[in-house]
Amino acid sequence: MAANHVSIFTKKDVAADLAKQPVLERSLSAFGLTTMGVGAIVGAGIFITPGIIAGKYAGPAVILSFLLAAVVCALAALCYAEFASTIPLAGSAYTYAYSVFGEIIAWILGWSLVSEYLFAVSSVAGSWSAYFQNLLGGFGVVLPTYLQHANGKGIDIIAIIIVLIVTTLLISGVRESTRVNEIMVIVKIAVILLFIGVGAFFIKSGNFVPFIPKGFTDAAGVHHYGFAGIVAGAATAFYAYIGFDAVSTASEEVKNPKRDMPIGIIGSLGVASLLYMTLSAVLVGVVNYKDLASPAHQGDPVAYALTLIHQNWVAGIVSLGAVIGMTTVLMVMSFGGNRLLFAISRDGLLPKAFSKVSERSKVPAASTIIFGVLAAFIGGVVPLQTIAELVNIGTLFAFALVSLGIVFLRRDPQFKDNRQGFKVPFYPVVPILSFALCVFLMLQLEMITWKVFVIWQVLGLIWYAVYGSRNSKVRHYL
Ligand code: ALA
Repeated sequence: MAANHVSIFTKKDVAADLAKQPVLERSLSAFGLTTMGVGAIVGAGIFITPGIIAGKYAGPAVILSFLLAAVVCALAALCYAEFASTIPLAGSAYTYAYSVFGEIIAWILGWSLVSEYLFAVSSVAGSWSAYFQNLLGGFGVVLPTYLQHANGKGIDIIAIIIVLIVTTLLISGVRESTRVNEIMVIVKIAVILLFIGVGAFFIKSGNFVPFIPKGFTDAAGVHHYGFAGIVAGAATAFYAYIGFDAVSTASEEVKNPKRDMPIGIIGSLGVASLLYMTLSAVLVGVVNYKDLASPAHQGDPVAYALTLIHQNWVAGIVSLGAVIGMTTVLMVMSFGGNRLLFAISRDGLLPKAFSKVSERSKVPAASTIIFGVLAAFIGGVVPLQTIAELVNIGTLFAFALVSLGIVFLRRDPQFKDNRQGFKVPFYPVVPILSFALCVFLMLQLEMITWKVFVIWQVLGLIWYAVYGSRNSKVRHYL
């Protein structure tokens, strides 16, 4: 092997890795993929971000923020679909980057994805807790204030407990079955439709005026309302769409990936965006956006809206449905995070313990425990909105790299004979536009989010320098 291959830009040999893969049954249809996507996408985002976006960034134009985020996701999703049909290996975007950019970029991307999954679990746990406490409230049970929220003065005890319960389930080898996932998806969609159906009768048209409130920028440089606010809101709305990348990991199990993969990815995004925009429209129609700006109502805006219109029984059902629906997202995201740590460790970039599979339960126990304890800690002490922005920056960064990766994929001789799969239309416009929009949305996020993101990346690079680069299996193998 040529010496220049053995560097921080060493690439994975996809053909060799594919030859090692067991052949999976091709049983998933476009419909199955769509259900899977909706299951992974729809969670805390729908039950919490519309309130934050309307109150803080966009007012009633929250609907446009969701539309803009959907467009960015759709472009990135097309790029994911091309990778998924060309490189059907485990590890998703981390593996794609290892194959087209080489090791160092794969590490940076994998490290960003770890932050996506970790912070996603912590933040969904915070939202789970808000809705669960709402349910408890219905029975007259109220926790002491210092245990209710992670707001600098107290901790979110329920968020900590739910992450530890999910972690325990995963350690004992519990995985969701497709059937359970389907039931969860039905429950989720049903409660969203219930809210829309009931709320529609209580819309006050005055709440839509002004549709785009007059914009201003605060002392910290954050844009509120106006066009800039809609764009800032889109960066937050992006959170609600995260999860469609999970569909791309199933590419080995799809009957006709070339046709079904784009339908599954775009279809689930389409369903999610329709639900999000309609729910947001009803929410801001029922509750004035100024009211949603109050921190007290940001944790569970949908339930708040229903209590406001005295539909307490519906609020109870929606909260229960939200709690059930968000549990699946917690399971999928924790599982995804562990699997990612497992894949990175298998390549030698993280210690072996992370890929050690427990004999009894057949799961990577150390990865699961470390991931779960960290996620519980973050969910318990860091305010929800700060975590949600951290999920976004890591994911947008990953999507930007995946989009750019398409340009490299098309030029890579490794894949020149492997052009049967799905191809991004209007190449190179779509990947380049997708890259630019992801970077643009990243620039809308707050300075504090950028600071944490940079610290996270620097820590990752230090780790790579002292450990990963010396223990990489791919390089050693070459
Ligand atoms: N899209 C996921 C959710 O909204 C993170 O829960």
